[in-house]
Amino acid sequence: MLIQSPTLQLDFVRQYFPSLAGDWVFFDNAGGSQILRPVVDRITEFLYESNVQLGASYAVSQRATERVAAGSKAMAQFINAADPAEVILGSSTSALLRILAQCFRPTLEPGDEIVVTNADHEANISPWTELERDGVVIKTWRVNPTTFDLELADLEALLTPRTRLVAVTHASNVLGSINPVRAIADLVHAHEALLCVDGVAFAPHRRVDVQALDVDFYTFSLYKVYGPHQALLYGKKELLLALPGYNHYFIDDAAIPYKFQPGGSSYELSYSLTAIPEYFEALAQHHGPAGGDSIERAFDLIQTHEGVLNQRLLSFLRDRPKVRIIGRDTADPTQRVSTISFVVEDMSSDQVPPYLDAHNIGIRYGHFYALRLIEDLGLLPNQGVVRVSMVHYNTVEECDRLIEKLAEIL
Ligand SMILES: Cc1ncc(COP(=O)(O)O)c(C=O)c1O
Repeated sequence: MLIQSPTLQLDFVRQYFPSLAGDWVFFDNAGGSQILRPVVDRITEFLYESNVQLGASYAVSQRATERVAAGSKAMAQFINAADPAEVILGSSTSALLRILAQCFRPTLEPGDEIVVTNADHEANISPWTELERDGVVIKTWRVNPTTFDLELADLEALLTPRTRLVAVTHASNVLGSINPVRAIADLVHAHEALLCVDGVAFAPHRRVDVQALDVDFYTFSLYKVYGPHQALLYGKKELLLALPGYNHYFIDDAAIPYKFQPGGSSYELSYSLTAIPEYFEALAQHHGPAGGDSIERAFDLIQTHEGVLNQRLLSFLRDRPKVRIIGRDTADPTQRVSTISFVVEDMSSDQVPPYLDAHNIGIRYGHFYALRLIEDLGLLPNQGVVRVSMVHYNTVEECDRLIEKLAEIL
């Protein structure tokens, strides 16, 4: 049984998202979430009050510098990084992982090994597999096609004294399953390798605590975490200091995170990030007395609410004889996020979303750039999967509206 209390108050949540006031139901959140009003306010504030180059002596420049620094500090707090210097900001997760892999490149020897999965978004695969050209050996950790799980025993069998890095997703953007990142980190570290985690499909749903997870690198996209089109990459300080940079030759090796941010980060977007942890804090405070880590408490509420949404949609899908759920068949929000994919017998996946378009419900189909997973599961002829990706601002009523319309065609 799912615990229903304390329940997330959706009226409180939704007032932060002006775009939810219309008649659209947004169920493509894994593609990109709606944005918080205070994030937009901060963008405007920066541009109208402090839109100058950083680092000069005059007061407006000092203020701009402080605001941009506040963005990194807020993100460090959001992911519980020990130091804001461990937070690299960039335009996208794809771009940041490419930068990281390029910085890694000169540290690798031919014969060194990197493990990737077949369940990741391509953003955390190609930057690593392309190092094969330098003689790096690539190994693939594959999902069990029956359980849809990445099994630790399979990873263990791939690790050798030559393994330098394992690249894995925290949650699959197709399967929705949450991988046991801390256990993976322990295993990888026992083999003296490093772990690079794609948290894009996880971070909108659960608290990221990079210290508790003991990850070496962790990345996600802020435009899916209710923020602007930007992304962050966390790296342990000693690793960032040791890696070669990706900036001009005169940028000091000790200049983290700047040595990984050629051209700097978008100033106004960086400042706007300050509004994200503030929102989660406000959410926690609204729902109960202060105490403990408020971001953690907000995500506990979110987890409970998502469990209810999962339960509702999955039990409907389970009852449709033509539907096959692609992912763990559990609604347990400790096991999966509320990203739910399925295929329909005798129906191509591209036929489902257009039916819902007409009812102002936005979902989508495809491979979602996890092309290798869709290929390995044999789902390419179906045009991939139909994906419904719900987040905490989605209501039970919205879920029921989707179910009602899906019931007409499935
Ligand atoms: C799991 C996952 N990883 C990485 C990415 C790439 O993120 P970005 O668009 O910031 O490059 C996505 C985007 O959909 C994703 O879902």
